[in-house]
Amino acid sequence: MKELIFATHNPNKVVEIRSLLGENIHIISLDEAGLHDDIPEPHDTIEANAREKSSVIYGLTGKDCFGEDTGLEVIVLHGAPGVHSARYAGPQKSASDNIKLLLQNMDGIIHREAQFKTVISLLLEGKEYQFKGICKGVITLSSQGNNGFGYDPVFIPDGSDKTFAEMGLEEKNKYSHRAKAFDKLKNLLEEKR
Ligand code: IMP
Repeated sequence: MKELIFATHNPNKVVEIRSLLGENIHIISLDEAGLHDDIPEPHDTIEANAREKSSVIYGLTGKDCFGEDTGLEVIVLHGAPGVHSARYAGPQKSASDNIKLLLQNMDGIIHREAQFKTVISLLLEGKEYQFKGICKGVITLSSQGNNGFGYDPVFIPDGSDKTFAEMGLEEKNKYSHRAKAFDKLKNLLEEKR
């Protein structure tokens, strides 16, 4: 079985990614690997932050690993919150504060198109592979639903009339940016088996 360290402290992402990758790929979270420090996200692109996460963990462990970075890009806000999605309303990284600020900044705006973008940086025997997944949709006028995390309560993916927070994980994975990116990672690992 393939073992990969996942460079995240977000338990929601670990649950999502384990369900996406299935039983042949064993995901070890940072906490399980005994790595408790925050990983920096110093760059101004999602691609560079994903690479930062995987290379920091590879530097510490020398083991195959991947980092993943995601941003919500709202067209009318010129791509914001984008790379700043986690800290949009401040360093406390509060999902409810972020949503409140987003809805406030979109008050009265009719054009509510947005997309989630995920980039994975996989380091396999020291070589980097990047995979991207995009999910287009719209931002709602108010929060709807209690599942998921982050901006899930205010994002309806194209093809659905529910927010991600109104879906179970299996349904979210039919649409999600992260599912699309991880399908590509899974294909690569299968090719290399
Ligand atoms: P990061 O990739 O952990 O830096 O996450 C960036 C921000 O986007 C955080 O505020 C997350 O909560 C949010 N985010 C990432 N993925 C999702 C998602 O699938 N749904 C909703 N919000 C997300």
